[in-house]
Amino acid sequence: MEIKLTINDESKTVEVEPDDDLATVLRQNGYTGVKCGCDSGVCGASKVFVDDEVKMACGVDAPNADGSEIRTIEALGTQDDLHPIQEAFVDHFAVQCGFCIPGMIIEAESLLADTPDPSEAEVREAIDDNLCRCTGYQKPVEAILDAADRMRGEQSVAADGGSQIRPDQADCTDHDGDTNE
Ligand code: FES
Ligand code: FES
Repeated sequence: MEIKLTINDESKTVEVEPDDDLATVLRQNGYTGVKCGCDSGVCGASKVFVDDEVKMACGVDAPNADGSEIRTIEALGTQDDLHPIQEAFVDHFAVQCGFCIPGMIIEAESLLADTPDPSEAEVREAIDDNLCRCTGYQKPVEAILDAADRMRGEQSVAADGGSQIRPDQADCTDHDGDTNE
């Protein structure tokens, strides 16, 4: 069957199977920033905006998404023009393997849209369903707090004084060492 989606402001008609989930469909259509970690709605890796609400795409039945507006991490920034949240993640060395990062950044964007000056506790609560197998939680929290400052126009000071990580090194691999793009 075919469904219509608006993905990152582009109208698309996509072919789906009745039992497809949205994460699978997005990845099949090239939105590989949507990660499939648990495939059961518990790890946060597949978070996207669906009609402006953060959802775990693996838990959304694709046929039911017909007519929805989807926004994925691909809409946020590019390697040459990073979003302040992405910049802050790079500057704070908040990326290890990177697999969980798109979902964390989507959640961070949602948090900062509603709460531009969050407390550390609010940041931790926002990403408490984003599981990181590299157990790198402290630096993402610092990065999100710094991104909030940057987005409010306040001076930011990266924890390390600046990044040595290039954006193209922030790509993820799965834990078997295979590329997971
Ligand atoms: S893959 Fe969707 S929440 Fe884990
Ligand atoms: S950086 Fe989070 S799973 Fe590796």
